[in-house]
Amino acid sequence: STAATDVAFTVNGRPTRLSVDSRESLLDVLRERLALTGTKKGCDHGQCGACTVHLDGRRVVSCLTPVVKVDGRSVTTIEGVGGPDGELDPLQQAFIDHDALQCGYCTPGQVMAGIACIREGHARDDAEIREYMSGNLCRCGAYGGIVAAIRQAARR
Ligand code: FES
Ligand code: FES
Repeated sequence: STAATDVAFTVNGRPTRLSVDSRESLLDVLRERLALTGTKKGCDHGQCGACTVHLDGRRVVSCLTPVVKVDGRSVTTIEGVGGPDGELDPLQQAFIDHDALQCGYCTPGQVMAGIACIREGHARDDAEIREYMSGNLCRCGAYGGIVAAIRQAARR
């Protein structure tokens, strides 16, 4: 049995109201109901960081965030970090500059976590960046580039 309930929240600044199954994750709602497929599903168990988004400006793993918990709150996904005319976020540009991606599957989550890392002041040196980013796995082993990209963007 399922319990349907209404939730209202903003996604990338856009007011959104949906009837949801109270057990649905924010990740599934973003991808399947709102077609925001930039947020990736890796493990679906909070262990890879591929699904990282911002909730009221703080990073969360959306696979472990029940959608009912975001009622009245503000969600930002990778689709919402660029400028109004499609400009990249400075960290996205830094990922390109530092070859910080190979297959790209982990990249949206890395960028969302990296933006939070910089914003929260945890990007003062490589060790601090690695510690903050330790929940974001990269099967391709692009960690060196990822750290370098965050370091570059943090200097701006
Ligand atoms: Fe959410 Fe892996 S899909 S942490
Ligand atoms: Fe392939 Fe990170 S670039 S998983």
